[in-house]
Amino acid sequence: MVIAIDGPAGAGKSTVARAVAQRLGFTYLDTGAMYRCVALAALERSAAPAQVAAALEISVGARVLLDGRDVSAAIRAPAVSEAASRAAADPAVRAAMVAEQRRLLASGDWVAEGRDIGTVVAPDAAVKVFLTADAGECARRRALELGADPGTVLAEQAIRDERDRSRAVAPLEPAPDAVALDTTRLSVEQVVARIAALARAARP
Ligand code: DC
Repeated sequence: MVIAIDGPAGAGKSTVARAVAQRLGFTYLDTGAMYRCVALAALERSAAPAQVAAALEISVGARVLLDGRDVSAAIRAPAVSEAASRAAADPAVRAAMVAEQRRLLASGDWVAEGRDIGTVVAPDAAVKVFLTADAGECARRRALELGADPGTVLAEQAIRDERDRSRAVAPLEPAPDAVALDTTRLSVEQVVARIAALARAARP
């Protein structure tokens, strides 16, 4: 079974997806980390993301490995966030990432988190959730995580979210059959319980 969790930055996807996976005994797939790896490799090699994307060995388990190197911290740097959002707008990069994501999701039980999981990567997912939160709350959460200034995070996030929403290929948008969940005033536990209930209801 695949549970697809999409939404903008800071809506709570990673925290929620990890917790849902743990509760249900599913495997967590952070697809944003894959785009971040492509961006990091391109920055390090001064190459175009599309040139490096297909040849990279990316593993996004408990630690994120890029060609065997632990880049879990490096991919969270603000410069990589910005470069990842640009790389993710390139159709060739997306084609390579989506192919790998579909290969992984083909068997087993997964909670996959991203921007296009319910629309493109796994349109047949048993459960689709689109998480949102108001922009100020998204920025506050991200800033807390990064130890950064909320105002700066809000401005940077607005640019990236707008790019993710307006790109030609797989723009950030809810699947027509996704359940929309505004997490602004919900606790992590409340959101996790809601998604776990959707998963139980979808079990054959
Ligand atoms: O979720 P995140 O911030 O780690 O994602 C990094 C970038 O990758 C972000 O700009 C959106 C993009 N992304 C995407 O386009 N499609 C996905 N499935 C996941 C992330």
